Amino acid sequence: MNRSTLVAAIAAVVVGVASYNVLSIDAKWDAKANAAEAGQTPILDTHNLMSYMIDPAFEELKLAVENAPEKRKDWRSLTMAASNLAEMNNLFYIRSEEGITDKPEWMESVKKSHTVSNALAASIKEKSEYDVIKKNFIAVMESCNECHTKVVPDEEVSEIEGPASW
Ligand code: HEC
Repeated sequence: MNRSTLVAAIAAVVVGVASYNVLSIDAKWDAKANAAEAGQTPILDTHNLMSYMIDPAFEELKLAVENAPEKRKDWRSLTMAASNLAEMNNLFYIRSEEGITDKPEWMESVKKSHTVSNALAASIKEKSEYDVIKKNFIAVMESCNECHTKVVPDEEVSEIEGPASW
Protein backbone atom coordinates (compact mmCIF):
# COMPACT_ATOMS: atom_id res chain seq x y z
CA MET A 1 0.00 0.00 0.00
CA ASN A 2 1.53 3.36 -0.96
CA ARG A 3 1.39 6.36 1.31
CA SER A 4 -1.59 8.12 -0.24
CA THR A 5 -3.68 4.93 -0.30
CA LEU A 6 -2.86 4.45 3.37
CA VAL A 7 -3.89 8.01 4.20
CA ALA A 8 -7.13 7.56 2.27
CA ALA A 9 -7.85 4.28 4.06
CA ILE A 10 -7.26 5.84 7.49
CA ALA A 11 -9.45 8.82 6.56
CA ALA A 12 -12.25 6.46 5.49
CA VAL A 13 -12.09 4.65 8.84
CA VAL A 14 -12.08 7.92 10.80
CA VAL A 15 -15.09 9.26 8.87
CA GLY A 16 -16.85 5.92 9.30
CA VAL A 17 -16.33 5.86 13.06
CA ALA A 18 -17.30 9.53 13.42
CA SER A 19 -20.54 9.15 11.48
CA TYR A 20 -21.38 5.96 13.37
CA ASN A 21 -21.02 7.87 16.66
CA VAL A 22 -23.10 10.76 15.45
CA LEU A 23 -25.82 8.40 14.25
CA SER A 24 -25.96 6.44 17.49
CA ILE A 25 -26.01 9.61 19.62
CA ASP A 26 -28.84 10.97 17.46
CA ALA A 27 -30.80 7.74 17.79
CA LYS A 28 -30.53 7.83 21.59
CA TRP A 29 -31.38 11.49 21.77
CA ASP A 30 -34.42 11.01 19.55
CA ALA A 31 -35.77 8.19 21.67
CA LYS A 32 -35.53 10.37 24.78
CA ALA A 33 -37.04 13.38 23.06
CA ASN A 34 -39.90 11.28 21.74
CA ALA A 35 -40.57 9.83 25.17
CA ALA A 36 -40.62 13.31 26.70
CA GLU A 37 -42.82 14.68 23.94
CA ALA A 38 -45.27 11.83 24.31
CA GLY A 39 -45.44 12.68 28.02
CA GLN A 40 -44.99 9.04 28.98
CA THR A 41 -46.61 8.44 32.32
CA PRO A 42 -47.04 5.18 34.19
CA ILE A 43 -50.56 3.73 34.24
CA LEU A 44 -49.99 1.19 37.01
CA ASP A 45 -48.46 1.71 40.41
CA THR A 46 -45.34 -0.38 41.03
CA HIS A 47 -47.29 -2.97 43.00
CA ASN A 48 -49.66 -3.65 40.11
CA LEU A 49 -46.91 -3.41 37.51
CA MET A 50 -45.33 -6.34 39.35
CA SER A 51 -48.60 -8.30 39.75
CA TYR A 52 -50.06 -7.69 36.29
CA MET A 53 -47.00 -7.60 34.06
CA ILE A 54 -43.62 -8.48 35.53
CA ASP A 55 -44.64 -11.53 37.55
CA PRO A 56 -46.80 -13.15 34.81
CA ALA A 57 -44.01 -12.49 32.27
CA PHE A 58 -41.53 -14.10 34.63
CA GLU A 59 -43.83 -17.14 35.05
CA GLU A 60 -43.97 -17.54 31.24
CA LEU A 61 -40.20 -17.34 31.12
CA LYS A 62 -39.85 -19.88 33.91
CA LEU A 63 -41.96 -22.38 31.94
CA ALA A 64 -40.09 -21.72 28.72
CA VAL A 65 -36.62 -22.08 30.27
CA GLU A 66 -37.29 -25.19 32.36
CA ASN A 67 -36.06 -27.57 29.63
CA ALA A 68 -33.43 -27.12 26.94
CA PRO A 69 -35.11 -25.70 23.82
CA GLU A 70 -35.07 -28.14 20.91
CA LYS A 71 -37.78 -27.38 18.40
CA ARG A 72 -38.38 -24.09 16.63
CA LYS A 73 -41.45 -23.48 18.78
CA ASP A 74 -39.41 -23.95 22.00
CA TRP A 75 -36.95 -21.29 20.84
CA ARG A 76 -39.84 -19.04 19.88
CA SER A 77 -41.53 -19.29 23.31
CA LEU A 78 -38.22 -18.67 25.03
CA THR A 79 -37.38 -15.71 22.79
CA MET A 80 -40.79 -14.14 23.32
CA ALA A 81 -40.78 -14.62 27.09
CA ALA A 82 -37.26 -13.26 27.59
CA SER A 83 -37.64 -10.31 25.26
CA ASN A 84 -41.03 -9.36 26.72
CA LEU A 85 -39.54 -9.25 30.18
CA ALA A 86 -36.50 -7.29 28.98
CA GLU A 87 -38.73 -4.77 27.21
CA MET A 88 -40.93 -4.40 30.32
CA ASN A 89 -37.82 -3.36 32.22
CA ASN A 90 -37.95 -0.10 30.29
CA LEU A 91 -41.12 0.75 32.22
CA PHE A 92 -39.11 0.97 35.44
CA TYR A 93 -37.44 4.15 34.19
CA ILE A 94 -40.60 6.25 33.89
CA ARG A 95 -41.91 5.60 37.41
CA SER A 96 -42.00 7.99 40.30
CA GLU A 97 -43.39 6.66 43.54
CA GLU A 98 -42.67 7.88 47.04
CA GLY A 99 -40.79 5.44 49.22
CA ILE A 100 -39.74 3.36 46.20
CA THR A 101 -38.25 5.22 43.25
CA ASP A 102 -36.79 7.97 45.43
CA LYS A 103 -34.38 5.50 47.05
CA PRO A 104 -30.90 5.37 45.48
CA GLU A 105 -31.17 1.54 45.53
CA TRP A 106 -34.08 1.78 43.08
CA MET A 107 -32.11 3.14 40.14
CA GLU A 108 -29.15 0.87 40.93
CA SER A 109 -31.47 -2.15 40.87
CA VAL A 110 -33.27 -0.95 37.74
CA LYS A 111 -29.97 -0.71 35.86
CA LYS A 112 -28.83 -4.10 37.10
CA SER A 113 -32.11 -5.72 36.14
CA HIS A 114 -32.03 -4.00 32.74
CA THR A 115 -28.50 -5.32 32.07
CA VAL A 116 -29.18 -8.92 33.07
CA SER A 117 -32.53 -9.12 31.26
CA ASN A 118 -30.94 -7.80 28.08
CA ALA A 119 -28.08 -10.29 28.44
CA LEU A 120 -30.57 -13.14 28.78
CA ALA A 121 -32.60 -12.02 25.76
CA ALA A 122 -29.40 -11.62 23.71
CA SER A 123 -28.08 -15.06 24.64
CA ILE A 124 -31.38 -16.61 23.52
CA LYS A 125 -31.37 -14.65 20.29
CA GLU A 126 -27.89 -15.98 19.59
CA LYS A 127 -29.09 -19.51 20.41
CA SER A 128 -26.37 -19.89 23.07
CA GLU A 129 -25.69 -23.15 24.92
CA TYR A 130 -28.46 -24.09 27.37
CA ASP A 131 -26.03 -23.74 30.32
CA VAL A 132 -25.35 -20.13 29.38
CA ILE A 133 -29.07 -19.40 29.05
CA LYS A 134 -29.74 -21.02 32.44
CA LYS A 135 -26.98 -18.99 34.06
CA ASN A 136 -28.39 -15.78 32.55
CA PHE A 137 -31.90 -16.69 33.69
CA ILE A 138 -30.65 -17.16 37.26
CA ALA A 139 -29.03 -13.72 37.12
CA VAL A 140 -32.43 -12.24 36.17
CA MET A 141 -34.12 -14.10 39.03
CA GLU A 142 -31.48 -12.85 41.46
CA SER A 143 -31.99 -9.30 40.23
CA CYS A 144 -35.72 -9.58 41.14
CA ASN A 145 -34.86 -10.67 44.67
CA GLU A 146 -32.05 -8.16 45.02
CA CYS A 147 -34.35 -5.24 44.24
CA HIS A 148 -37.04 -6.51 46.61
CA THR A 149 -34.54 -6.93 49.46
CA LYS A 150 -32.88 -3.56 48.90
CA VAL A 151 -35.82 -1.35 47.94
CA VAL A 152 -38.79 -2.80 49.83
CA PRO A 153 -37.32 -4.82 52.73
CA ASP A 154 -40.50 -4.26 54.79
CA GLU A 155 -42.91 -5.50 52.10
CA GLU A 156 -41.82 -9.12 52.57
CA VAL A 157 -42.26 -9.94 48.88
CA SER A 158 -42.06 -13.75 48.56
CA GLU A 159 -38.78 -15.01 47.20
CA ILE A 160 -38.80 -15.33 43.41
CA GLU A 161 -37.80 -18.87 42.49
CA GLY A 162 -36.75 -20.77 39.39
CA PRO A 163 -38.45 -23.77 37.71
CA ALA A 164 -39.60 -26.47 40.17
CA SER A 165 -37.57 -29.25 38.53
CA TRP A 166 -34.18 -27.50 38.81
C1 HEC B 1 -36.00 -2.37 40.40
C2 HEC B 1 -36.75 -3.05 41.41
C3 HEC B 1 -37.52 -4.27 41.15
C4 HEC B 1 -37.21 -5.31 40.31
C5 HEC B 1 -35.99 -5.46 39.41
C6 HEC B 1 -38.25 -6.28 40.47
N1 HEC B 1 -39.18 -5.86 41.36
FE1 HEC B 1 -40.84 -6.89 41.97
N2 HEC B 1 -41.27 -5.41 43.26
C7 HEC B 1 -40.61 -4.21 43.39
C8 HEC B 1 -41.26 -3.39 44.37
C9 HEC B 1 -40.82 -1.99 44.77
C10 HEC B 1 -42.36 -4.13 44.86
C11 HEC B 1 -43.35 -3.74 45.94
C12 HEC B 1 -44.42 -2.86 45.36
C13 HEC B 1 -45.45 -2.53 46.39
O1 HEC B 1 -46.11 -3.46 46.88
O2 HEC B 1 -45.60 -1.37 46.70
C14 HEC B 1 -42.33 -5.41 44.14
C15 HEC B 1 -43.25 -6.43 44.32
C16 HEC B 1 -43.28 -7.62 43.63
C17 HEC B 1 -44.25 -8.67 43.81
C18 HEC B 1 -45.37 -8.68 44.82
C19 HEC B 1 -46.57 -8.06 44.20
C20 HEC B 1 -47.78 -8.42 45.01
O3 HEC B 1 -48.78 -8.79 44.40
O4 HEC B 1 -47.71 -8.35 46.25
C21 HEC B 1 -43.94 -9.67 42.93
C22 HEC B 1 -44.67 -10.99 42.75
C23 HEC B 1 -42.79 -9.23 42.18
N3 HEC B 1 -42.40 -7.98 42.63
C24 HEC B 1 -42.19 -9.97 41.19
C25 HEC B 1 -41.00 -9.60 40.55
C26 HEC B 1 -40.28 -10.44 39.61
C27 HEC B 1 -40.70 -11.83 39.18
C28 HEC B 1 -39.19 -9.73 39.23
C29 HEC B 1 -38.08 -10.12 38.29
C30 HEC B 1 -38.41 -10.62 37.00
C31 HEC B 1 -39.23 -8.45 39.93
N4 HEC B 1 -40.34 -8.41 40.71
C32 HEC B 1 -38.27 -7.47 39.77
C33 HEC B 1 -39.46 -3.85 42.73
C34 HEC B 1 -38.77 -4.63 41.81
